[in-house]
Amino acid sequence: MPTAVFLARRHKNVFLDLSGIPPKKLLEYLPREAESVLELGCGTGNLSFALAHRFPNSSLTFVDASPEMLAVTRTRIEESDIQLSRQTEYVASRFEDLTVPAHSFDVVVSSISLHHVVDKASVYRAVRAAVRVGGIFAFADQIRGEPETNHLVNWERWLDFCREPGNCTPEEIQSLLDHAAAHDHYTPLSAHFALLSRSGFTAIDCVWRNLMWGIVTAAPA
Ligand SMILES: C[S@@+](CC[C@H](N)C(=O)[O-])C[C@H]1O[C@@H](n2cnc3c(N)ncnc32)[C@H](O)[C@@H]1O
Repeated sequence: MPTAVFLARRHKNVFLDLSGIPPKKLLEYLPREAESVLELGCGTGNLSFALAHRFPNSSLTFVDASPEMLAVTRTRIEESDIQLSRQTEYVASRFEDLTVPAHSFDVVVSSISLHHVVDKASVYRAVRAAVRVGGIFAFADQIRGEPETNHLVNWERWLDFCREPGNCTPEEIQSLLDHAAAHDHYTPLSAHFALLSRSGFTAIDCVWRNLMWGIVTAAPA
């Protein structure tokens, strides 16, 4: 089963649950108020839902390459009892092709999506252009361990955890492995930091890490 379908079937992201990255962990690092919020890779809306709850008075923009994923997120938010005071945008676009006005967001976030991007440098430059000084870019994602031996240990411990009773079935684990082999481009933390710095971010921090999972925050310089 393709991972996207597997995620949509559960209506939540099992990896997000298992990784121990509940959206609220990332939300802890966001400002209390924001005029406008952009999420890259809303998927089935796990972080999006939490963002809508946290920022009901903000202008919210959710981006995903998959119209099906956007539709799931839209339905989840529209059928909830969250009262959004501004129009919410659902944008079907690859991050690499996204065009948004410069300095138009206070908060840019992403959860388990940027590891799909090969050319992170250009996406980080675009995010830097989109976010206002005083704002924040924060993402939760899978990060490549360094050296490679660390990465392999992280993967093995992660798979051990997925195999524990009640977590993933053998088919789901195979789907995870197939998906990773076909689509995932893990980047070491040191490379994320260097790319973010070169893109014009400062105060770059990894605020949380668990095996291959991490949360990175950065401020526009
Ligand atoms: C694993 S899901 C994560 C979904 C959600 N953020 C969560 O935490 O549950 C990754 C999402 O990113 C989207 N995606 C992957 N690469 C993308 C790209 N280059 N441009 C736009 N969307 C992309 C996929 O369509 C998918 O919905």
